[in-house]
Amino acid sequence: MRKIGLGILISGRGSNMDALIRACEQPDFPAFVSVVISNRPDAPGLKKAEGRGIATSVVDHEKYPDRADFEKNLQKILDAHPVDLICLAGFMRILGAAFIRPWEGRIINIHPSLLPDYKGLQTHERVIADEKKESGCTVHHVIPAMDEGSVIVQKKVPVLAGDTPAMLAARVLEKEHEAYPEAVRILAGKLKGRQKVGIA
Ligand code: GRF
Repeated sequence: MRKIGLGILISGRGSNMDALIRACEQPDFPAFVSVVISNRPDAPGLKKAEGRGIATSVVDHEKYPDRADFEKNLQKILDAHPVDLICLAGFMRILGAAFIRPWEGRIINIHPSLLPDYKGLQTHERVIADEKKESGCTVHHVIPAMDEGSVIVQKKVPVLAGDTPAMLAARVLEKEHEAYPEAVRILAGKLKGRQKVGIA
């Protein structure tokens, strides 16, 4: 089986990254993790990845004068590894069109709401404040507009009476860990034979 290479971008805890790493450890899973990149040197996810023998890299956004420079360095790291698909997993930087366009179709994100509802941050707080009965998570293609792009996998959870944002977040996160590997499996079939691309 030909496997696709994943470049996972994180900024923090990395539990979705961990779910992807574990999925990739299954022999019949059609992907492997090429590299984990964090924009924060202190992201706890980096240690988790290292502990599982995965190559890691830091591209600290604070060290670059502007976004273009940050993104060029990000691309350099991606170019140094066999990456067919970028998985944003709690990556807290907005990526610009110059970076995203060449990767379109091969860059995906996970978001803790049922998109197109509740784009942006504080999703669980807003869902509870609106007294929604249902929430969930979405894995979607990344385009140069935040939390837009077509949906690949969506999973729902109930919002229960008395839920705090933390309780709802934990229920949604369990589904995220199922949804992300499912989305990668779906895309792996479609990406076979694609050429590596990058920004100049
Ligand atoms: C997840 O809830 C994800 O949906 C959002 O950021 C959080 C990252 O968590 N984009 P983790 O770092 O994967 O544990």
